[in-house]
Amino acid sequence: GDASKGTYPFYMLKEIDEQPIVMRRLVKKYTNDRGEVELPKPLLAALKAADRLYIVAAGTSYHAGLVGKGLFEKLAGVPTEVHLASEFGYNQPLLSEKPLFIFLTQSGETADIRQVLVKVKAQGYPTLTITNVLSSTLAREADYQLGLYAGPEIAVASTKAYTAQVAVEALIAQGLGEAKNHREAEAFDVVHQLGLAAAGQQALIDQKDAIHDWATDLFSQSRNAFFIGRGTDYDVSLEAALKLKEISYVQAEGFAAGELKHGTIALIEQDTPVVAFISDPKTAAHTRSNADEIAARGAKVLRIATESQSSEEDQLVVDDIDPMLAPLLMIIPGQLLAYFTSFDRGYDVDRPRNLAKSVTVE
Ligand code: G6P
Repeated sequence: GDASKGTYPFYMLKEIDEQPIVMRRLVKKYTNDRGEVELPKPLLAALKAADRLYIVAAGTSYHAGLVGKGLFEKLAGVPTEVHLASEFGYNQPLLSEKPLFIFLTQSGETADIRQVLVKVKAQGYPTLTITNVLSSTLAREADYQLGLYAGPEIAVASTKAYTAQVAVEALIAQGLGEAKNHREAEAFDVVHQLGLAAAGQQALIDQKDAIHDWATDLFSQSRNAFFIGRGTDYDVSLEAALKLKEISYVQAEGFAAGELKHGTIALIEQDTPVVAFISDPKTAAHTRSNADEIAARGAKVLRIATESQSSEEDQLVVDDIDPMLAPLLMIIPGQLLAYFTSFDRGYDVDRPRNLAKSVTVE
């Protein structure tokens, strides 16, 4: 069953492998047989009434929230802010007139998020928890709750919950956009896109061995690493860097590729490992030239690009998908690079030092 490791050495690898199944499961859970998104009526009414969405989260879930902002703004036309729960709790920003709060949380137990939920509920604002554990505290205490249906996630480093969160955000954004007759939602086919995501994820998972070789080449000797991209590729960079930090203890940072020249490039030395994510036609050429510039300064650059944006120098080519959903594919090599780096160093991949799966203290 879902909660056993089977023949896998670690839960994390099993959970990485389960992502295509989770994508397909979410399409079944959230759409009818005509391929239309179906959201609970009271939730849909609350979403339609909101003039702004506030996504509040921590860790990996926060990174999934960053991707959600683009989905809600483009597909549903609703301004969306993303906040770290631990910051929002003590420094509440100026709110819009009709906010709706979305708590993104794998466990549904994160204390930093709960304190925000308690505070905004006291102010009378509507709340939605999106979680993998529908019996959790945050699911029970919010007005509305939606499931991630990723199955139990045991490894401390979150993988399938992240891609499930992005997929559920896309489904909600499409459902809301259609309910508002928003043109972008009507032109978007979330079912088709999530199908592309599942197939593209599988194609990447099938290239595990090559990604293992890249992990060895890039990170076996290094104490630091950089991930770069623009747009959703920047969101992925933050999450890929977090994965590497959490389980392999390599100091890793995600940077907006265009910001390199404004400071970060000073860090580049001979053989500094850099991973460049290139999926968005709007910015692919720019990111590519940023990658060339750091390669010229001696960095070891692994370029990961979607098929239509790829060029000969790219080591890994990813299936095409709408750039809003590129993180569903781009993060797979990010997860696998972190996994193999940790594994090769002989660490307990599933139980990294100093970390807990869910943090129930502030
Ligand atoms: C902990 C975990 C992270 C996770 C974060 C948020 O710090 O180690 O992997 O992303 O909590 O957890 P949540 O359950 O709220 O998504």
